[in-house]
Amino acid sequence: MDYFLRKFSDLNHREGRVLSFFNQQILTNFDSSVSKHIDLEIGCGHGHWLNAYAQQNSTRQCIGVDLNTKRIEKSNNKRFINDLNNLSFLKADANEFLEFKPKAIKFSRIFIFFPDPWPKTRHHKRRLIQENFLEFLLSHTTPDAQIYFRTDHMEYLKWTKLIFEDSDSWNLAELPWPLEHNSFFQDLLPNYESFVAVRS
Ligand SMILES: C[S@@+](CC[C@H](N)C(=O)[O-])C[C@H]1O[C@@H](n2cnc3c(N)ncnc32)[C@H](O)[C@@H]1O
Repeated sequence: MDYFLRKFSDLNHREGRVLSFFNQQILTNFDSSVSKHIDLEIGCGHGHWLNAYAQQNSTRQCIGVDLNTKRIEKSNNKRFINDLNNLSFLKADANEFLEFKPKAIKFSRIFIFFPDPWPKTRHHKRRLIQENFLEFLLSHTTPDAQIYFRTDHMEYLKWTKLIFEDSDSWNLAELPWPLEHNSFFQDLLPNYESFVAVRS
């Protein structure tokens, strides 16, 4: 079993861990007179993109979550080298992280780049973007929130776009990409497409 799940096998324990992260790393740093926005990257991988984004957006508080311990360690190393106090990373499952975070925290932007495509039909239920996930995001985002999505898997792109098109709460939108900077997987997968959705 994964070391993390052995150490934090109890759901209440994992909830406490997310709340401590917010109390120790986010709420203490968050000065609402300077920072108006909190942004979240789901599946941040090695943290290349979010480090660059946080560097260029010093008035935005940025959080990256990923299930992979090593990737979170690498993300954090970059953050320390870059000396960024508007950026934090946590190893966590995205759904649990959102469920357990303080209710008052609402994200302005959510970034999802090169998520696992789960190509087999019987695995589509494991894909991150689902109709109920978009509904779930409503209670965790600001009224004008945006989702930025990028993938190299064209079937997954089409499938995901359809879920957004069918949604009553999110609309596809022609908005500029906030920062072009390669993520680890974007370096490996140069043929990709992107879209942006906004809350309606
Ligand atoms: C293909 S990688 C892409 C990483 C990064 N976005 C990039 O572009 O380099 C997908 C990442 O999503 C993470 N991931 C998958 N499911 C997740 C979940 N439920 N919660 C958080 N992270 C997840 C994986 O651990 C992996 O690092």
